[in-house]
Amino acid sequence: MTEDEIRRHLRTNTIGRRLVLFDELDSTNLYAKSMSRKEFDEGTVILADRQTAGRGRLGREWKSEAGKNLTFSVLLKPRISRQQIGILSLYASIAVVDALRQIAGLAAECKWPNDVLIKGKKICGALSEAVFMQDELRSVVVGIGINVNQIEFPSELCNAATSIHIETGSVIDRSMVLARVLEYMESFYTILRNDGPQAVLRHWEKRTTIIGKQISVLDRGTIITGTAKTIASDGGLILEIQGREKKILSGDVSLVQ
Ligand code: BTN
Repeated sequence: MTEDEIRRHLRTNTIGRRLVLFDELDSTNLYAKSMSRKEFDEGTVILADRQTAGRGRLGREWKSEAGKNLTFSVLLKPRISRQQIGILSLYASIAVVDALRQIAGLAAECKWPNDVLIKGKKICGALSEAVFMQDELRSVVVGIGINVNQIEFPSELCNAATSIHIETGSVIDRSMVLARVLEYMESFYTILRNDGPQAVLRHWEKRTTIIGKQISVLDRGTIITGTAKTIASDGGLILEIQGREKKILSGDVSLVQ
């Protein structure tokens, strides 16, 4: 994938105005975080064909076959409070859900906090990391991994992961997928700026099926079960447990059958 190929598809003003492409990086999030300590343009996108130390949520590794998928990070300077940073992961998954629908008619859904699933299998994960300088929010790095053309997954993932190729039966142009995702990110970033974080949260809720359902959240060895009510203004998940509301800030969600 080259910058020219991406530019041929891309119609954005801010997100992607600077594209920095690498054959190999440890992690695009790590690179973007180091960039954000210097001068940078908002909307800069760091992309790697292969990550040697891709980072996932809760200290996990993000595994992605070299040259088949999308692994990239977008540098943003949102005017939000420290408490609202979690919203940026939710924001990324909304953009991916809409892009997958537009590109291939795929019915994807958001899974709290930052995954995108198709028929229960993960096609995308997002990891937002904030950079503070002198206690001030300097930037938020929104890292996104999308399975595009990978058709074989390591044994521990093969029942849990899918890709656009698996779902559609065709090889997809990665630069076109990237361009569509960046375009939706730009639209929702405008919504975040103009209408505020609540508006983004309402969009997220429209793209998930967990609201109103009985779910379990596994967080550091503890399982909490309740009804998913809504998303709080900081991106936390509000559960109703025996008539009381409890906010969950991290963990892995599963539906109670
Ligand atoms: C998760 O599902 O746990 C989040 C995965 C986020 C992976 C992406 S790939 C691009 C960016 N760089 C990283 O090291 N991680 C994110």
